Amino acid sequence: MTNKSRNDTIDSILKEDRRFLPSSQFVENTSINNHNLKTLNQLANDDHELFWAKLAHNEIDWQTHFSKTLDDSKAPHYRWFDEGTLNVSVNCIDRHLIDHADKTAILFEGERGDTQTLTYRQLHSAVCRFANALKLHGVKLGDRVVLYMPMVPEAVIAMQACARIGAIHSVVFGGFSAEALKNRIEDAQAKAVITADGGYRGGKIIPLKAACDEALSQGCSSVQTVFVLNRTEENVTMVPGRDIYWHDAIQHISDDCPPQWVNSEHPLFLLYTSGSTGKPKGIQHSSAGYLLGTIVTMKWVFDAQASDVFWCTADVGWITGHSYVAYGPLALGMTILMYEGAPTVPDAGRFWKLCEDHKVTVFYTAPTAIRALMKAGDEFPNQYDLSSLRLLGTVGEPINPEAWMWYHRVIGKERCPIVDTWWQTETGAHVIAPIPGVVATKPGSCTLPLPGMDVAIVDESGKEIEEADKGGYLVIRKPWPSMLRTIWGDDKRYIETYWQRFNNKYYVAGDSARRDKDGYYWIMGRIDDVLNVSGHRLGTMEIESALVAHNLVTEAAVVGRPDEITGEAIFAYVVLKGQRPEGGIDNKLSVELQQWVTKQIGAIARPKEIRYADNLPKTRSGKIMRRLLRSIACGEEITQDTSTLENEAILEQLQGKQ
Ligand code: PRX
Repeated sequence: MTNKSRNDTIDSILKEDRRFLPSSQFVENTSINNHNLKTLNQLANDDHELFWAKLAHNEIDWQTHFSKTLDDSKAPHYRWFDEGTLNVSVNCIDRHLIDHADKTAILFEGERGDTQTLTYRQLHSAVCRFANALKLHGVKLGDRVVLYMPMVPEAVIAMQACARIGAIHSVVFGGFSAEALKNRIEDAQAKAVITADGGYRGGKIIPLKAACDEALSQGCSSVQTVFVLNRTEENVTMVPGRDIYWHDAIQHISDDCPPQWVNSEHPLFLLYTSGSTGKPKGIQHSSAGYLLGTIVTMKWVFDAQASDVFWCTADVGWITGHSYVAYGPLALGMTILMYEGAPTVPDAGRFWKLCEDHKVTVFYTAPTAIRALMKAGDEFPNQYDLSSLRLLGTVGEPINPEAWMWYHRVIGKERCPIVDTWWQTETGAHVIAPIPGVVATKPGSCTLPLPGMDVAIVDESGKEIEEADKGGYLVIRKPWPSMLRTIWGDDKRYIETYWQRFNNKYYVAGDSARRDKDGYYWIMGRIDDVLNVSGHRLGTMEIESALVAHNLVTEAAVVGRPDEITGEAIFAYVVLKGQRPEGGIDNKLSVELQQWVTKQIGAIARPKEIRYADNLPKTRSGKIMRRLLRSIACGEEITQDTSTLENEAILEQLQGKQ
């Protein structure tokens, strides 16, 4: 097919507003059919609490059963399944030992092609041993443990080990810098850090331990122990009395570790995410409610089957890697694939080779990866046998119809349904997503809210928007079990960020959305100063703070510009302490500032383009006119009213005309 005819097809699909019905082959074998879905929705609508109570009763192995389903007496601080006690690692591992101990839990492949397989029995033993090692080094119930790991089985083992002893893990993505790691360790007051000598990615070794040393040398006085996984055999500095190799820590350690029973509301983990202020927020999740959210969505949205090889490509440093790598699929006794490296090593066929080699059945990734692999050409996927695939998923940002169609045609061979899943770090699990086999899909829409998720679109006054195609705030009206509980150490910010906008009545997601005439949801973007780069959330203020921390910078404003591959790209306007470079461009300084931001936050926050000006466009009250800057970054005509600008002449400079 030529590009032109392909584009014509895409256009006609969009014009017709075409829906994709799942193939009859898929429908025959799914666990949820139209009838079940209707019953689930009916139950949820009739009695929200009873609906969730039944699911919690059926899906979780409780040590003590819960007495109350929902406690809303301190709303918007909700408690679910109070007085119930459980252990999440028991629910993910021990419960499969009776019938499926020798089933593969984790299939692992490193970037260099090394592989490893862990059965549920082996996973259990590894988790228990490491849990005992944590205890031996003084980690107790409620202590925070920060993970800074490559994407290797030990990352999941460490998370599960924390869950086993009731320690609260906080995984920091290995691509974040030492500075970002330090800030998170300090905010969480972590007692231990688990890292590795390094990890393999993009043909390079990521020096995780060195970054960890740098972070710890700047403070982090709460940290007593650093566990270091020997992954790369690189020489690293070990601080006596503080640092211990993973293999030494588990030597002569028993693999019998009775689980610590915890209350349903006991925090399972913190995960830092960007907001509209400079400081990332430690999103706090519960044990039972979170686990339940991951289990039911695995069943509903991923149609989890015992025979599946489930591959979610997300790193454990993100929520997707928590819910759909470390917890949900294991709770259902599935086989997961973990891959340590980049999708393009040695070439853009790596993901598809992994699908063939490991006979992946369900594949879940981000639109940015799909776009990048689409651009690399069909010859890569066409080299591999993708016939094991039966279901495809996407997450992280809206998927453009062209990428959707490519995924559908070239990867799914027009046979696999695509589930476009809308959710957030804060929601813990999918919120709006199709039930494959039942809900017809439309390219670019995440379709309909899942059972028990009371989603609405409201206007400025909080009134529900009923009309089709009118955009508004995306809100969730009723609490749900896997929702965040608070921001670690900052209840005030929790309420201000998510609830205050509509008097604590609705959870405000921070996205705008519209609903079409069929009730399908279309996510339109963020309503706050948060960017979405390659499916990762970055606060504009976070990047601005990093820029102004440089000794040559006085002021900075960061906006997003649409990007073919990464969705949004970072565009920074910078005011220097000294003279503005001629024409507003200084490539040498830009490289320095890019490196600086990489050091402050991580490579994902590096601005793609920097433009220098004498000033930023501000209103007379001093507010930076970001929308204007966004238009300029996109090279659009300025249509906004600029009469309130303090310094209108600055526009010429910002546009690079001077
Ligand atoms: O803007 C939405 C976008 O990603 C944000 C959540 O980011 P994060 O907490 O990092 O979690 C990403 C993985 C769950 C949302 O507020 N987003 C996520 N999924 C979609 C999406 N936008 C459109 N379509 C999606 N399927």
